[in-house]
Amino acid sequence: MASITVQAPAKLNLTLDVLERRPDGYHDMKMVMQSVKLADTLTLTVEPGEGIALSTNLGFLPLDGKNLAAAAALRLSEAAGVELGRLSIDIRKRVPVCAGMAGGSSDAAAVLRGLNELLGLGLTRPELARVGERVGSDVPYCVYGCTALAEGRGERVTALPALPHCWVVLAKPGFPVSTPELFARLDGQRVRCRPDTAGMLAALEAGDLNGAARRLFNVFEEVLPSYRRDRVRELKQVLLRAGALGASMSGTGPTVFGLFDDPGTAEAAFEAVRPLCPDTFLSETV
Ligand code: C5P
Repeated sequence: MASITVQAPAKLNLTLDVLERRPDGYHDMKMVMQSVKLADTLTLTVEPGEGIALSTNLGFLPLDGKNLAAAAALRLSEAAGVELGRLSIDIRKRVPVCAGMAGGSSDAAAVLRGLNELLGLGLTRPELARVGERVGSDVPYCVYGCTALAEGRGERVTALPALPHCWVVLAKPGFPVSTPELFARLDGQRVRCRPDTAGMLAALEAGDLNGAARRLFNVFEEVLPSYRRDRVRELKQVLLRAGALGASMSGTGPTVFGLFDDPGTAEAAFEAVRPLCPDTFLSETV
């Protein structure tokens, strides 16, 4: 029996832009992504036998091939042409689910990295990212982590200079979001404001945390149904008033986050937001 424990960090979108709708129905994206320390922990165990057994501390997660962690293991086994034996995947979830923080994709990427090491497969990061592409759009980025530009559906990943270290307060409001609905809403209207991706890249190049924080922007915020948009705006305002250098929504939401250059201010902001939103976290960048 061999075992490995791997971390699956959450991601934030420093910028998110949706470009053209493609013939396959998907949209080309341009996103600057950032990992935070808030993470799930996965323990992978391989022993003689067959099949995949999933366990998790969250009762409502799927425990079959619909779980991206199991899908990733199957794809890796196919791509590398290896038998996995009996694989147990235990997921201790800390990253909120359906939150715009790529929790499921990060679990899948952790399975790819973990099995690659446990089984001594010797695949490179780009090779693992190519396997991940077939599991989900955010998986290739999650294979790399840290600060990166993701383009296409998410499969073209370019490492960027790391965002200068900072503290992050994350708040996940209680409403659900529908990814297909948000893309359809974007198709139905002219996007008036887009992120300054070039400015974000220049700020990262210069190691300018304030410049990066000023350029946080997500096009999905504008097409949220109005009461949800108001809730996101309210949480952003609370974070900014509490001293955030910038605030935005991550992915298709609903998680809102603020960046802080000082742990005391971040802690006070965390305390200010928590009464408004029970799913609030204090973390820091990777
Ligand atoms: O990636 P996922 O399967 O979760 O996406 C759900 C839906 O969101 C897709 O079926 C598609 O309608 C839309 N989508 C898109 N462009 C992307 C990602 C998702 O249009 N890059």
